[in-house]
Amino acid sequence: MSSKFYDPIAITDMILKKIKMNNFRNYTKFEKEFNDSINILTGDNGAGKTAILEAIYIMSISKSFRTNSFRDIINKNEDYLQIFGKFVNQKSCKINVNYTKNEGKKIFYNGHNLEKNTDLIGKIPVIILSPSDQRITEGPNSLRKNFINQILCQVDDKYLKNLLNFNKLLKRRNSLLKEYSKKNKKYDLYFETIDEQIGKYSQYLAEKRDNFIKEFNQRLKQNFNKITHLDANIKIEHKSKLEFKKENFIAQFIKLLKSKFQSDLDKGYTGSGIHRDKINIYLNDNNIREIGSQGEHKVSLIALKISEGDFIKEKLDSRLIYLLDDLFSLLDKEHCIKIIKELSDENQVFITTTDLNNIDQSSLKNKSYTTFNIEKGLS
Ligand SMILES: Nc1ncnc2c1ncn2[C@@H]1O[C@H](COP(=O)(O)OP(=O)(O)OP(=O)(O)O)[C@@H](O)[C@H]1O
Ligand SMILES: [Mg+2]
Repeated sequence: MSSKFYDPIAITDMILKKIKMNNFRNYTKFEKEFNDSINILTGDNGAGKTAILEAIYIMSISKSFRTNSFRDIINKNEDYLQIFGKFVNQKSCKINVNYTKNEGKKIFYNGHNLEKNTDLIGKIPVIILSPSDQRITEGPNSLRKNFINQILCQVDDKYLKNLLNFNKLLKRRNSLLKEYSKKNKKYDLYFETIDEQIGKYSQYLAEKRDNFIKEFNQRLKQNFNKITHLDANIKIEHKSKLEFKKENFIAQFIKLLKSKFQSDLDKGYTGSGIHRDKINIYLNDNNIREIGSQGEHKVSLIALKISEGDFIKEKLDSRLIYLLDDLFSLLDKEHCIKIIKELSDENQVFITTTDLNNIDQSSLKNKSYTTFNIEKGLS
């Protein structure tokens, strides 16, 4: 186990044994016990398959992968929702997420109300692969940055804390800019203190991201070439205008922010810093976002997600829970079955499909699996 990343409170090797939810999306009540290995959720469009994956994801990350607002998730006729999960290995652990329109979100871990919702992150490592993730390779820079952040946050508690502090401070700086602009105030010692702190967080986060990308790229290339049987060169690149590796970085950073102060005041936000860094994905030296074919985007996404799992698994030395939403829309049947089989060797896997013919009985022989027929909002 890597001591650098080891979080003593993370309980490893957990699998989801049982879920119960009330007023979640189209369900008023839902309760199921799951297979330790492969769980196939099948049912018509709109039955509620992705909703089940969403609830599992929330018990790991504390947020949804579909929306930033829990209000969208509460059953539209109700004003609260509840999710209960029982996770087991040698021991068991219980996670309970409650949300009410008036009081917001409360998360309980083994009956204890977590002080911060983000305290949940890293306890139950989950990898989600859903069709909307295609935006990681096709969409804006922020989504690629989120992809890296959520991996690092799951394996490294210190990274998560530094990221939360950085975001808080940047928000504070931006609101101060508006205040100073109204009062016609100049760059002062107070701003310098904030910029010094932002500089320290920036240096830490940028270095971590850089090191992560170096390590991650080896896996990414291997996984991409394993899926495609090609010898392609795929890599993530981190471009920063800041020279965060230099010893005098903090002093340089303060100098830069001081010189940009007037333009920041005019814009009302901080225009320089690691939040402006670019994360690009290159396939054979071409930026995939600009010229990738549909197929290249799909395979790259799967390679990214499998590499994400490999990375987290190694750092936490733990089994993972894989949520494969509509995998069959990304790859042909044969490839999908191969991936499901491989992933289920050491992890718990949930797959959704409208068409059970995608997984015929012979394809999963010698594997333990359970099929759940999901009927519109019924338990
Ligand atoms: N807050 C809500 N209240 C009630 N119903 C909702 C709410 N949010 C979503 N729904 C409905 O829940 C249903 C289930 O959605 P979900 O995305 O889980 O279906 P699915 O089985 O994954 O379908 P598909 O195969 O098309 O992906 C949809 O009909 C959706 O309109
Ligand atoms: Mg779905």
